[in-house]
Amino acid sequence: MGQKTNIYLTLLFVYLCWGQRSNPEGERSSCNQCDLQLACNCSYGGFTRIPMVTDRALTLDLSFNDITGVTSDDLRGHRRLRALSLHGNRVAMIHPSAFDSLWSLEELDLSDNQLTALNHKWFRNLEALQKLNLLNNPYSCLGSRPVFQRLVRLRRLGFGGPALEELKRRDLSGVTELEELTVHGNNLKSYESGALGDVWPLGSVTLSLHGPFLTNTALASAVLADVTYPETPLILEDLHLIGNESVQPFRESAKRRVRKISFNNLFVSDEAIVNLLVALDGVPVTSVFMDGVTLTGEGRWERAKQTDQKSIDEFFVRNVVVLNVFKFVSFLQLGFMLKYPRKVSVINSRVYVMPCNTSHLLSNLQYLDLSDNLLTDLTLTETMCNGDGTMKDLRVLNVSGNALKSLSTVSQQVAKLSKLTHLDISRTGYISMPEGCSWPSTLRYLNISRAKLTTITPCLPATLEVLDLSNNDLNDFILILPALRELHLSGNKLLKLPPGWLFPNLQTLTIQANTLNRFGRADLLSYGRLQDLRAGQNKFACSCDFVYFLQSAIKGGEDVHLADGEESYVCDSPFYLQGEPVAQVQLSIVVCHRVLFVSVSCGVALFVGILLCVLLWRLHAFWYVKMTWAWLRAKRSSLRRRHRRTRVGSEELPSFDAFVSYSERDASWVENLLVPELEEPRENDEDSDQRMLRPLTLCLHKRDFLPGHWIVDNIMSAMERSRRTVFVLSENFVQSDWCRYELDFSHFQLFDGNAGGDEAILILLEPLSTDDIPKRFCKLRKLMSSTTYLEWPQDEERTGEFWRSLRHALRGEDEDDY
Ligand SMILES: *[C@@H]1O[C@H](CO)[C@@H](O)[C@H](O)[C@H]1NC(C)=O
Ligand SMILES: *[C@@H]1O[C@H](CO)[C@@H](O)[C@H](O)[C@H]1NC(C)=O
Ligand SMILES: *[C@@H]1O[C@H](CO)[C@@H](O)[C@H](O)[C@H]1NC(C)=O
Ligand SMILES: *[C@@H]1O[C@H](CO)[C@@H](O)[C@H](O)[C@H]1NC(C)=O
Ligand SMILES: *[C@@H]1O[C@H](CO)[C@@H](O)[C@H](O)[C@H]1NC(C)=O
Repeated sequence: MGQKTNIYLTLLFVYLCWGQRSNPEGERSSCNQCDLQLACNCSYGGFTRIPMVTDRALTLDLSFNDITGVTSDDLRGHRRLRALSLHGNRVAMIHPSAFDSLWSLEELDLSDNQLTALNHKWFRNLEALQKLNLLNNPYSCLGSRPVFQRLVRLRRLGFGGPALEELKRRDLSGVTELEELTVHGNNLKSYESGALGDVWPLGSVTLSLHGPFLTNTALASAVLADVTYPETPLILEDLHLIGNESVQPFRESAKRRVRKISFNNLFVSDEAIVNLLVALDGVPVTSVFMDGVTLTGEGRWERAKQTDQKSIDEFFVRNVVVLNVFKFVSFLQLGFMLKYPRKVSVINSRVYVMPCNTSHLLSNLQYLDLSDNLLTDLTLTETMCNGDGTMKDLRVLNVSGNALKSLSTVSQQVAKLSKLTHLDISRTGYISMPEGCSWPSTLRYLNISRAKLTTITPCLPATLEVLDLSNNDLNDFILILPALRELHLSGNKLLKLPPGWLFPNLQTLTIQANTLNRFGRADLLSYGRLQDLRAGQNKFACSCDFVYFLQSAIKGGEDVHLADGEESYVCDSPFYLQGEPVAQVQLSIVVCHRVLFVSVSCGVALFVGILLCVLLWRLHAFWYVKMTWAWLRAKRSSLRRRHRRTRVGSEELPSFDAFVSYSERDASWVENLLVPELEEPRENDEDSDQRMLRPLTLCLHKRDFLPGHWIVDNIMSAMERSRRTVFVLSENFVQSDWCRYELDFSHFQLFDGNAGGDEAILILLEPLSTDDIPKRFCKLRKLMSSTTYLEWPQDEERTGEFWRSLRHALRGEDEDDY
C-alpha cells in the first residue's frame, strides 16, 4: 500500500515537473510599442516568446530579444503584416505553418539566429515576400527541397553563415531575378556549379568567401563565374589575398568583363595586388572600391606596369591601414594607373601628404577626396604643387576633416584650378577669414562647416551658389552674395535672420539651432525667392505675432515651406510655454490683444458700474447704507453713554414720558395742539381719574436736544430717555429723513429689548393708508399694520376722545411703576 502511494506521488511529481517544463515561459506577454503608422518596435524588449501585438500591425520589429521559437499560433491573424524582423534572437525552431497567415509579408529578417535547418514550408504562403534575410544561422545547407520556390516576388535575398558548407544546383530554383544577393560562404566546402547561375538580372552581389579564396580557389572561381555580369557590381568581403593563387578566381570575373569591384575588409599583399592587376589586365573595370583595407606590402606594384588599366574611372579607398608605413614607397611608379581615373578618394587613411609629383600623375583627375586625413597647410601646399594649377581639370576638391588652419592658404592653392566648382573645407581648424581671398571664378559650392569662424568677410566669393557655414561661431551675416541659392547657417549664434536683400536668389536657408528669438512675414518678404526654410531648434519667444505667423506657415499659408517639420519649432519663452511645440500653442485673447482687451473690459466694467449705481439708486440702497451707518454710530455712542452713566452712577438724565417724532412741517400741530394738551395739567376734564390729569413730559427735538451734539446722537439719547415714542405720521413725515431714522431707531430698540411693550405710538394726522407709504419703509408699514394707531379726527368734536386715547396710550401699564 505504502509503496503504491509512493509511486503515485512520484508520478504526480513527474507530471507537475513536466507540466511546468512544457510551458517554461508561461503566458505570452504583449508589446504595445506601436506608433500611429502601426509600426511596432518591440526590439530589446527581453521577450522570450513572440509577444502579442495588435493584428493590425504593419511592421513588427522583434530584433534583439531572446525568442527561441515561433509556434504555429504566434503570428496567427497577422494578415496585414508587411515587415517582420526576428534579427538577433535565439530562434532555433519555427513551426512549419508559423508564417502561414502572413499573406502580405514583404520583408522577413531571420538573420543572426540559431536555425540549424531551413524548411520550405515556412515560405509556402509568402508570395508577397520581396526581401528575405537568412544570414548567420548555423545551417549547413539550404535543405533537401528548394526553399525559395514559392517566393515569386523575391528581390533581395541573403543567406549563409559560418556553418554553410554546401550549395547545390537546385537550392535556388525559383529565384530568377534579384536586386541584391548576399551569400556568406566563408566556410563553403562544396559548390555545384550553376547554383547561383540562374539568378539574372542581378542588381548587385555581395560574397563572403574567405575560406574558398584561401584554400579552394576552384570553388571561388565557380561562384564568381556564376554571379559576374558586366552590369552587376561585385562586392567581396573578408578576403585575404596573399599569393598568386588567391587572386586567380578573379580571372573568371575578368572573363565576364566585370565593371565594378568592391572589397570590404580586405587583407592584401603587394604580390596579390600585382597579380590582381595582371588578372584584370585589359578588363573594362571602371571602379574599384576598397573599404577597410590592410596593406601588408610596401607599395611595390610597378611590376604590373605593363597592364592596361585605361578604363579605371573611379578609385575609392577608405580606412586603409598600411602595416609597413615607413617602408611604404610613394605611388610614383604607378603612372600607368594614376593617369586614367577621374575620381580618386582616399579617405581616413592617415595620408599626410600627396607629393606634387603624384599630383602631376593624376592628369585626368576631376574629383579628389582626401577627407579625414592628416594634411596640414604645408603639406596641402605640396599636394597642390604650390598652387600652380596642376590637376587642371579638377572640379571637386574635398579636404574636409584635415588639420588645416589658414583659409588664405587654401584659397591661394586652389586659385588657379580654373574648373574648380566644389570645395569642401569643412571640419577644419579655420578660425578667421582674411579680408580678401582669391578663388577660381568657377567656384559655386563652398563648405566651411564645423570650423571655428567667428566673422565673415568679403573673402567669400560672390560666385557662390551653395555656401555651408553651419556649426561655426558666427554672430551675424552681412555680405552680398548675388548668386547664392543655398545658405546653411545652422549651429551658429545668430540672433536674427540675415537680411534677405543680401541674397536675391536664395531658395534654401537652414538656420537651425541658433539663438533666433523670432522671425516674421516681413523678414521673409525681404527674400525674393526663398522656398525652403529650416529654422527649428531655436530659442523662440512665442509672442502672438510669431505664433500666428508660424502656425500659418505650418499650414502652408505662407510662400515659404518649413522643410524641417513643425516639431522642430518649440517655444523657449515665455516660461509657461517652454517646451511646447509652436504648432500646438494656443494663445488667449488676453495675451494677444491686450490693449483691446483692457479697453473693452474697462468699458464693460464702467457700464456695469453705472448700471449698478442706477439700480442701487433706484432701490434706495444709499439711503439704507446711510441709515445703517448712522444707526451704528449712534448705537456706539449710546453704549458709551450708558457705560459712563453706570460707572458714574450719578445724575440720572431727565427722563421723558414720550419722545415726539414729527416732521418740521407738522410742527405747528405739535406745538400748538399736542404740547399744550399733554404738558399742561387739566382740571376741567370729565375724566376724574387723577393720574390721568397729571401733566406728561415730552421730548421735542427743537426744545430738548442738546445743542452741539450730533443729531443722530441726540435722537438716540432722546429715545433712550423716553419711555414712548410718538410718531406723528403724515405725508410730510414720510418725506423727512430724520423722522424715518427716528422710526427706525425705535424699531431697533424694540429688538434690543431695552424696553418692554409697545413703545411706538402712531398718530395719523391725515388719512394715510399703508399703500401710500413707499415700499422701502417696510418698518413703518409693518408698524402700521401691527400697531393700532390713533387718527386725528377731522371734526372738532371728537378731539377730546382722541386726547384721551392718546394719554391713555402714553400712560398705559407704566403707571404701575409709579
Ligand atoms: C526599433 O528601435 C531600435 C532602438 O530601440 C532601433 O535601433 C530600430 O531601428 C527600431 N526599428 C525600427 C523598425 O524603427
Ligand atoms: C600566377 O598564376 C597564374 C596561373 O596560375 C600564372 O599564369 C602566372 O604566371 C602566375 N604569376 C606569377 C607572377 O607567379
Ligand atoms: C619629381 O619629378 C621631377 C621630374 O619629374 C624630379 O626632378 C623630382 O626629383 C621629383 N621629386 C620627387 C620628390 O621625387
Ligand atoms: C567630403 O567628404 C566628406 C566626408 O567624407 C563628405 O561628407 C562630404 O560630402 C564630401 N564633400 C563633397 C563635396 O563631396
Ligand atoms: C558640408 O560638410 C558637412 C561635413 O562634412 C556635411 O555634413 C554637409 O552635408 C556639407 N554640406 C553640404 C551643403 O553639402
